[in-house]
Amino acid sequence: MSLLSVSDLSVSAPGRELVHGVSFELAAGERLGLVGESGSGKSLTAMAIVGLLAPGLVADGSVVLDGHQVIGRPDREMTAMRGATAAVVFQDSRAALDPLMRLGDQLAAPIRRRARREGRRLSDSAMRDEQIRWLERVSIPEPARILRSWPHEVSGGQRQRFAIAMALSCAPRLLIADEPTTALDVSTQAEVLSMLDRLVKDEGLSLLFISHDLPVVSRVADRVLVMRKGRMVERGPTDRVFTEPQHDYTQGLVAAARRLQDALDGEGGGA
Ligand SMILES: Nc1ncnc2c1ncn2[C@@H]1O[C@H](COP(=O)(O)OP(=O)(O)O)[C@@H](O)[C@H]1O
Ligand SMILES: [Mg+2]
Repeated sequence: MSLLSVSDLSVSAPGRELVHGVSFELAAGERLGLVGESGSGKSLTAMAIVGLLAPGLVADGSVVLDGHQVIGRPDREMTAMRGATAAVVFQDSRAALDPLMRLGDQLAAPIRRRARREGRRLSDSAMRDEQIRWLERVSIPEPARILRSWPHEVSGGQRQRFAIAMALSCAPRLLIADEPTTALDVSTQAEVLSMLDRLVKDEGLSLLFISHDLPVVSRVADRVLVMRKGRMVERGPTDRVFTEPQHDYTQGLVAAARRLQDALDGEGGGA
């Protein structure tokens, strides 16, 4: 059985449908990329899956996550499922963190939730060990200092690593990463991406990786879905879609990514 099964999902604002009849499956341990230009409906699709749509937006159709129907489920039940089943990392980790809470206290919350779920009691020192261990796993140097810091005191790259640690520390089965590296500079982007790649592998997670950036998606996803204007226009194994795109729109995306890569290579060569 699929870990996630989305069938004929639509998302509407009053008087306007924004996502139109999207369907796909995600198996346990699989890595799926969701690509498409800005505004194509990628984030709305992801938010509908975890029941986090903005007020005023309504999802229709079916989303079965780990055997549970998400559409129409009350918020308080979704809160329990998020974390345990699916965790999300956003583009802007600043939004995911509470600016008025030290990072250590923020990381303690998902660790405590997981322990409670597993019927474990955590002493203060066991909690601290887990906090440090998670920061080490996302390669944050000086973890003890970071735990005492406020969100605004750490760099964007470290904040994003921290957000990933928070998402994974409650032991989800599915990680949804929505443009997780888009706000970072190119070298930080590459580091965070390979770290994410490694953690997803180590934890045996399923991954739904969302990005407008084709080369980034091709590095982490086994399969891709291409969205345009709220519809799914192409899907298939990553290699096939990027080497032999069928749909005009995907052909355009691939050609644009190649031109950009050529331009960057040209600069590197000092031409
Ligand atoms: N809360 C909202 N109310 C009305 N329209 C929205 C809302 N959120 C997003 N949209 C619109 O839905 C479309 C898809 O948005 P989104 O899923 O965020 O795109 P993507 O993540 O692919 O860039 C866009 O046209 C966007 O303007
Ligand atoms: Mg988006």
